[in-house]
Amino acid sequence: MKTHFLTLALCATLCATFLPATLNAADKDLPYGQMMQGQGMMQGQGMMQQGQDAMQAADGMSLLRHILKTDPYVKWDLMPGTTRMRQGKEPHGALQNVYVNKLAYKAIMEKAGALPDGAIIVKENYTAAGKLAAVTVMQKKKGYNPAAGDILWLKYSPDKKILAQGKADPCIKCHTAAKDNDYVMLAPLK
Ligand code: HEC
Repeated sequence: MKTHFLTLALCATLCATFLPATLNAADKDLPYGQMMQGQGMMQGQGMMQQGQDAMQAADGMSLLRHILKTDPYVKWDLMPGTTRMRQGKEPHGALQNVYVNKLAYKAIMEKAGALPDGAIIVKENYTAAGKLAAVTVMQKKKGYNPAAGDILWLKYSPDKKILAQGKADPCIKCHTAAKDNDYVMLAPLK
């Protein structure tokens, strides 16, 4: 009996002393746990990024469908003040046609100060030889990207492959030069 009790007591003491210490030590370096956590975060961020990309892709597709099928841009007016195959600058084509939907047309004619929700500008970009190189689009979408004028950007190739879409940084960076004109370069809105 006595020996049993002693063994028990000894065991209890040993366990009480060493077990938490071992756990604490394991807690401290946790190489595996941290790796898992790190990976989890990276995966989480990756998934968030993928989610955002998917959302922007959906936005791009729906804008593309809108300007090709629902309200074909080729039937719109040219941007006031521009002519067919006007000469353009880099990075857009040497020659361009710039179309505006009714809302954008009205805002430009009335010098509304900014584009209203739903205004769209489509620019066909041609090479100097007159070959269509790309189509670039801006759509004003209320609440879409308040940090950069609430504009949905879209660029697609002549075979309708989407090359840029959504809150596209390169578009925003350069067009920020016209921030006071609601990111529109060609027509004064004021
Ligand atoms: C390095 C500067 C630069 C970048 C990058 C750029 N743009 Fe432009 N954009 C211009 C300039 C300058 C004009 C005026 C037309 C011209 O001179 O070519 C313009 C005009 C436009 C227009 C006609 C409406 C307006 O603002 O006058 C659209 C639409 C447009 N860009 C869309 C885009 C999209 C979409 C992207 C990104 C894929 C983009 N742009 C990237 C400089 C840029």
